[in-house]
Amino acid sequence: MGKYYITTYGCQMNLHESEKLAGILESFGYNRCETESDADIIVFNTCCIRENAEDRAEGNIGALKGLKKKNKDLIIAVGGCMTQQPNYAIKLKETFPFIDIIFGTHNLDNFGTLLSKRLSGQKRVIEILDKEGPVCEKTPKKRTSYPNAWVNIMYGCNNFCTYCIVPYVRGRERSRKKEDIVNECKLLLEEGYKEITLLGQNVNSYGKDLGDVNFKDLIREIAELPYKFRLKFMTNHPKDFTDDLAKEISLHKNICPCVHLPVQAGSNKILKMMNRHYTREDYLEKVKSLRKYLPDISITTDIMVGFPSETEEDFNDTFELMKEVEYAGAFTFIYSKRNGTPAATYDNQVDEEISKARIMKLINLQNDINRKKSKEYEGKTIEILCEGFDDKKNKYLGRDVYGRMAYFDGNASLLGQFVNVKITKAGGISLLGEIQNGENLKWDFHQ
Ligand code: SAH
Ligand code: SF4
Ligand code: F3S
Repeated sequence: MGKYYITTYGCQMNLHESEKLAGILESFGYNRCETESDADIIVFNTCCIRENAEDRAEGNIGALKGLKKKNKDLIIAVGGCMTQQPNYAIKLKETFPFIDIIFGTHNLDNFGTLLSKRLSGQKRVIEILDKEGPVCEKTPKKRTSYPNAWVNIMYGCNNFCTYCIVPYVRGRERSRKKEDIVNECKLLLEEGYKEITLLGQNVNSYGKDLGDVNFKDLIREIAELPYKFRLKFMTNHPKDFTDDLAKEISLHKNICPCVHLPVQAGSNKILKMMNRHYTREDYLEKVKSLRKYLPDISITTDIMVGFPSETEEDFNDTFELMKEVEYAGAFTFIYSKRNGTPAATYDNQVDEEISKARIMKLINLQNDINRKKSKEYEGKTIEILCEGFDDKKNKYLGRDVYGRMAYFDGNASLLGQFVNVKITKAGGISLLGEIQNGENLKWDFHQ
């Protein structure tokens, strides 16, 4: 039977959605392959959060023209956030006449139907739905991130941050039923998964559309499942992150004390223009509260520079906030104008060169913080969940509960095992260590 190849752009949610596309393709009898040139069907699961994500996808799609010429039967499908933008599918259809299937985010679960149409002779199958479909629980999944498993708890976003395209391409918030989520987690743990990452654009508002459930109750119920595993979640929104939630996290040993709390900017003027619904002071208060309940919590963030009208003083507020919080990690971005969002119409778009200089300052600051935090690990023994083998370094790798990556040698398959590792050397962000033989070492093999 045929082979498939999927390229994914964007966030963890998209990676998980590609696992659903892979599940659908495997139900058709396709097998995964390692290179595009071996594939009978190539799928692009796209992202449009910033212009460069779109440019990369378009470049890679364009590069397939030759392959398609050589192999007339090759099927090329493009879906995801980029195609869901208004009128985008028409542009894609005209620019790349060799694309066979175009689908959006609202009909991803229905990819099999579109594929059947193409296989039964329809030349081009293009379907973008304007409305969110029902939350689909039944799509088969071919998971790719053992020992971690992603679990959607909700879809869409209601926040409309003024720079962000997500609410327009993912629709409004829809939460999955709590029982369905807990059952999925239970099955995954029975199958041997050791880490569960709950996914939503704003997990803190989980359940608001259902009425009788909330995120705190959901994580409590999952954390109480009787297995050894780690529970993580992404992403939090500072406006909805409560003291109660910080307290709940502190009550469960298996909920990782690492919280991704995107701040975006440190200037109150910019935060207001972004429609973030918190001030710099509110944010710092949340950080304080988190550290009260979880003194050694690792807090990570997303930060943007170059939002329209950002002055040197505004940027300095961001820089100082980053310094004050001492994040365990930060994703830094240059603001990218997204058509259809309010910020795209704002005056005083910031010059690219200025934004580049600002982002470099943030990156350098964070690198210094990373080095300092890494040094604190030297000599310590930490519990690592082994998540893979790095062929280049010829070492196993995994993370501790705070999300810090460590490399170490091992003479048996350690994938999916919890191992104790003594850190011998701290790099910029990653750590090097030696495995300690503890009683929690089991040398069985999974997958
Ligand atoms: N729902 C999540 C994040 C989704 S997008 C949240 O609210 O935190 C991930 C990150 O991309 C955002 O946190 C933001 O920092 C960045 N981002 C979103 N839109 C952007 C834009 N137009 N330009 C640059 N970065 C952007
Ligand atoms: Fe975008 Fe804001 Fe929603 Fe995050 S919360 S997805 S940044 S609109
Ligand atoms: Fe994710 Fe990109 Fe869509 S960040 S939600 S894949 S626009």
